[in-house]
Amino acid sequence: MELKVFKFLSLLLLATPSLAGRLAKKPQMGWNSWNTFKYAVDEKLIKSTAMRLVDTGLARLGYDYVNIDDGWQTYQRDSNGHQQANATKFPNGIKAVADYVHSLGLKLGIYSDAGIYDCGFYPGSHGYEELDASLYAQWDVDYLKYDNCGGFQMNTLSAQERFLRMSYALKNSGREIFYSLCEWGHQFRWLWADQFSESYRMSGDIHSAYRADKSGVCTTAYCLNTGYAGVSDLTMIRKMRELSPFQKPGAWADMDMLEIGTGTMTEYQEQTHFSFWAALKSPLIIGADINNISDSSLAILKNKDIISISQDDLGRAANYLPELSEEGEYQIWAGPLSSGRSRHVILVQNYGSKAINVTLPLASVSGLEKRADRTGLVIRDVWASVDSGKLGETIELKNVEVDQVKVLVLKKR
Ligand SMILES: *[C@@H]1O[C@H](CO)[C@@H](O)[C@H](O)[C@H]1NC(C)=O
Ligand SMILES: *[C@@H]1O[C@H](CO)[C@@H](O)[C@H](O)[C@H]1NC(C)=O
Ligand SMILES: *[C@@H]1O[C@H](CO)[C@@H](O)[C@H](O)[C@H]1NC(C)=O
Repeated sequence: MELKVFKFLSLLLLATPSLAGRLAKKPQMGWNSWNTFKYAVDEKLIKSTAMRLVDTGLARLGYDYVNIDDGWQTYQRDSNGHQQANATKFPNGIKAVADYVHSLGLKLGIYSDAGIYDCGFYPGSHGYEELDASLYAQWDVDYLKYDNCGGFQMNTLSAQERFLRMSYALKNSGREIFYSLCEWGHQFRWLWADQFSESYRMSGDIHSAYRADKSGVCTTAYCLNTGYAGVSDLTMIRKMRELSPFQKPGAWADMDMLEIGTGTMTEYQEQTHFSFWAALKSPLIIGADINNISDSSLAILKNKDIISISQDDLGRAANYLPELSEEGEYQIWAGPLSSGRSRHVILVQNYGSKAINVTLPLASVSGLEKRADRTGLVIRDVWASVDSGKLGETIELKNVEVDQVKVLVLKKR
């Protein structure tokens, strides 16, 4: 049955060259309400956050989506079958919020679900895809995060079909709406979701912790229906070992919203979090309360060198280099860049329990094997804000502290 459906879908997709793509040349950036506010979203929060994105300079750096997550709706559709905004939380409706957000030069995101119910037992869009998509278009919404709760009661349609339906509905809605799939950890979506979404979650939910997973979390990408929430930062990075080669412009594997500024991590840990989300080409969606965020966390989110790695023109993710890494002690990832003078990025991250020295033979870094690819390059140590001289045959890193990441951008002189 599953196979047959898959075959049917493949034919459908072949007939439709690309449903995804244009909106996602670079990983999307913005803010989402869920990590900090859960169901407590309202007009005041969305407007003040949008204003704050502008005031802090985050908007200018590219954080331009303001995304309302679950909790904006009422428990019943109206007599015409439409989803409705909770009038206590959104007294002027969603369109008024969209107008405000647009007046600041930003874009508005909304949330729904591919099941009968969403995760908060509000009405999901299953069976109402076209109605809902056209309503979002009428409200001038720019982005849809589409979740996967409440779809399990009806074992009639595969996830692929449920999620594809909304893709078609959005494409036919009359408005260009970014489609962000939140199908957690099932059915290996990096093999199919890239064909009709702009981004697709590659795991169950992140939670605000650097190292500690909630119980039952699966630590690799290839999990079936287990361990879908409570993934720590380090485990999310671990899962990307299998997936980073799939990253490409048009549809991004999404490591979930950032937990920087949510108060559980040290500065080094937050630097690690941000560096990997950028170098692995995950969307960069802030999950903190930016009206109440530390200067240190804000500075991390605003680091221009790291943002440039995320928004690089080539759109290729760094890959894990197991032969240079030491399992349980430190991890080395590297990948090509092609914007401005930048040519390569190398991340060296200490996730062990003592400070380390690392000698990195550049000929063993994929993409830099040939001497000709290395000569003429200089190094920028991003978090130290230091530019150093010409590359030799090796890079020597001294005293990389516990939880610290060294991000080295190799640039043409
Ligand atoms: C709207 O939200 C308020 C505040 O959270 C809540 O008390 C109320 O029950 C909600 N109304 C509906 C119709 O869901
Ligand atoms: C601001 O953040 C601090 C630290 O995370 C927290 O203790 C405090 O409750 C927050 N204040 C508001 C008004 O949210
Ligand atoms: C790293 O190198 C420094 C400077 O050479 C040295 O003092 C330190 O002991 C070394 N650390 C380790 C873990 O080898």
